Amino acid sequence: MSTISPTPDAGPAHGRVGVVVVAAGSGARLGAGQPKAFVAIGGRRILDWAVAGACAVGDVAQVVLVVPGDYVAELTSTYAVSPAPGRAVVRVVAGGAHRSDSVRAGLAALDPRLDIVLVHDAARCLTPTGVYERVIAGVAAGDPAVVPGLPVVDTMKVVDPQGRVLHTPDRSSLRAIQTPQGFRRAALEQAHARGLDASDDAALAESCGIPVRVVDGDPRAFKVTTPADLQRAEHQIAGGAT
Ligand code: CTP
Ligand code: MG
Repeated sequence: MSTISPTPDAGPAHGRVGVVVVAAGSGARLGAGQPKAFVAIGGRRILDWAVAGACAVGDVAQVVLVVPGDYVAELTSTYAVSPAPGRAVVRVVAGGAHRSDSVRAGLAALDPRLDIVLVHDAARCLTPTGVYERVIAGVAAGDPAVVPGLPVVDTMKVVDPQGRVLHTPDRSSLRAIQTPQGFRRAALEQAHARGLDASDDAALAESCGIPVRVVDGDPRAFKVTTPADLQRAEHQIAGGAT
């Protein structure tokens, strides 16, 4: 397997960026009785927050929104009638059974001219623009894969299936990884070429030897996962600290 090294054609990202927003999960841990991305926070659905956030980034030319198959027609008309503000074009496609299947569906639908691709969890619906910008800047500057991350505050333990502690990694070397994760398009395509599933795209890139760099994430890019996270998001929208 070949390894993608830093791009030789690094340069400005303007208009070269596509964002795949994955919103096709069921949201089992939220337990809202409907797919998580359709749950409203502050009067707006999670997926609409996420699309608006991606479209607000100046370098983004296209957003591919990946949703459960049953919702493609409805959302295609929604975004045809009310395009997101900004210059990005929104396209809606059906996702798959696993997150990585959904990413691949989005990647296949992306304008072939875009050579920087961000993959973003719709569930990180309130991600500030600065996180996108740091990720895009990293890829534009030559890194094939760039992910946002935060230092971890708790002590972490590696345990076996019986809960026995195997070891305690040095906390200062750990980061909690968020999205959007940015890639040179060729790197992301290589990462997904074997059709494997992982909880993030960087893990697939790492598994084929693509170097991944971490830039600063943001606590406000947290992932809505449980019912308590809905309250956190409401609070954040209302202008409170997180
Ligand atoms: N996702 C997706 N397609 C899937 C699974 C997940 O597009 N088959 C998306 C989710 O919609 C979400 C993101 O991947 O925006 C991160 O996944 P997660 O937070 O795990 O969401 P769900 O899988 O929907 O939630 P749960 O694991 O609780 O069922
Ligand atoms: Mg999931």
